[in-house]
Amino acid sequence: MTDKLQPLHPATLTLGDKSYSLPTCEGVEGEKAIDISKLRAQTGYITLDEGYVNTGACESAITYIDGDKGILRYRGYAIEELAEKSRFVEVAYLLLHGELPQKEQLLQFSTRLNESSIIHEDMHHFFNGFPRGSHPMGILATMVASLSTFYPIPDELDDATEIQIVANLVSQVRTIAAFSYKKSIGEPLIYPSYKLKYTRNFLNMMFASPVRDYELDEDIVRAIDMFFILHADHEQNCSTSSVRTAGSSLANVYAVASAGICALWGPRHGGANQEVIQMLEKIHAEGGDGTEFINQAKDKNSPSRLMGFGHRVYKNFDPRAVVLKKQCDKLLNKAGMTDPLFDIARRLEECALKDDYFISRKLYPNVDFYSGLILRAAGIPTNMFTVLFAIGRMPGWLAHWREMLHSKQVTITRPRQIYVGETLRAYQDIDQRS
Ligand code: CMC
Repeated sequence: MTDKLQPLHPATLTLGDKSYSLPTCEGVEGEKAIDISKLRAQTGYITLDEGYVNTGACESAITYIDGDKGILRYRGYAIEELAEKSRFVEVAYLLLHGELPQKEQLLQFSTRLNESSIIHEDMHHFFNGFPRGSHPMGILATMVASLSTFYPIPDELDDATEIQIVANLVSQVRTIAAFSYKKSIGEPLIYPSYKLKYTRNFLNMMFASPVRDYELDEDIVRAIDMFFILHADHEQNCSTSSVRTAGSSLANVYAVASAGICALWGPRHGGANQEVIQMLEKIHAEGGDGTEFINQAKDKNSPSRLMGFGHRVYKNFDPRAVVLKKQCDKLLNKAGMTDPLFDIARRLEECALKDDYFISRKLYPNVDFYSGLILRAAGIPTNMFTVLFAIGRMPGWLAHWREMLHSKQVTITRPRQIYVGETLRAYQDIDQRS
């Protein structure tokens, strides 16, 4: 325990006729916890908490969420303020270093990102090895893991090397993402440019071509940069927990980041942004009002869910969705930029928010509900949506990896289980098995 945790009165646990005293503590925002790390040694019991719905896995000073009040803060700064006033590179620095950068620090960090943006030339061949139509998340996860073979990590990591590796990853993930898109459409790769800043550089690598200039639209650049900010961290979500879990074995950071990308891919996590757009497109194509999707999502015999709705932590509203909805409105109000899917999304949200099923379960639009519409407006193809989420989340994953590595002692993540399989039985030779 760090000295940021304040001890409270111990809790008493009664099991049969015995009572046990368990330490309790409180974090800086008043969150309270019972420390059960010695529970098994004391009592022979473990706790059972599938999906870690109620388990604090670590202490962290990076991101604070109050899901009941719709609060999200990075390093103490409100997400709404960061989204409005900051740029993604500043936010990445904030997450990784704990403070907003001063001008000189920001310049140094941006320069470092620019200098790290190229990937080893030999890696370009890898892109040719993937079958056409491969999902870019599969390519991204593979390529990020294979960075470890081109940029081996020394056994002893000093701070300067660690910072350099982190910059490599934040920068190279964007290059790999853009290259995988270019390969998927059979166009030549566009290299990162030293002259362009982070988000512009990415959009240029995605959309410029030797035979076509790409006019960078200020509003689009700003919207994508904001998208990255809003996705940059979200405390112990599924992919960040995977990063911490993989990192706790002291695996190399490229493998660790790749674990995060793989966990993010699923439709209940980052993959939801792609699914939301596919759902809205289907409603549009079929000319319905979305009732069918709502009814399916409510039907307990169907595995369907209303994509972009609900959240493990937010039981009021997701502050990221509020910012994105406004941004979407602004972007699509620009001359020539209309999207019928935005109207469908708004109607769907209205219907769901009046429906007792969603009200009683506190299911609100999450970050993925409106984000896809912004990406569509920028011309990003649907199968790249989760890749953009991964680019945004990279600084958060790495901030957690560093925080874990620098904690007093890295404890390998190794939950226990309650075994419910067969008890001991006698082995039967193959000809005796029925
Ligand atoms: N549509 C219909 N019912 C839902 C939905 C939904 N989107 N989400 C939750 N429920 C129901 C669920 O069936 C359960 O009902 P009941 O109590 O009758 O069994 C109840 O609400 C609680 O659900 P849960 O699965 O226990 O909640 P959770 O905290 O484990 O799941 C979630 C959170 C995000 C996985 C879930 O809400 C979901 O699957 N949403 C759709 C996918 C999605 O949009 N994911 C993006 C999440 S935000 C970005 C990110 O972090 O990646």
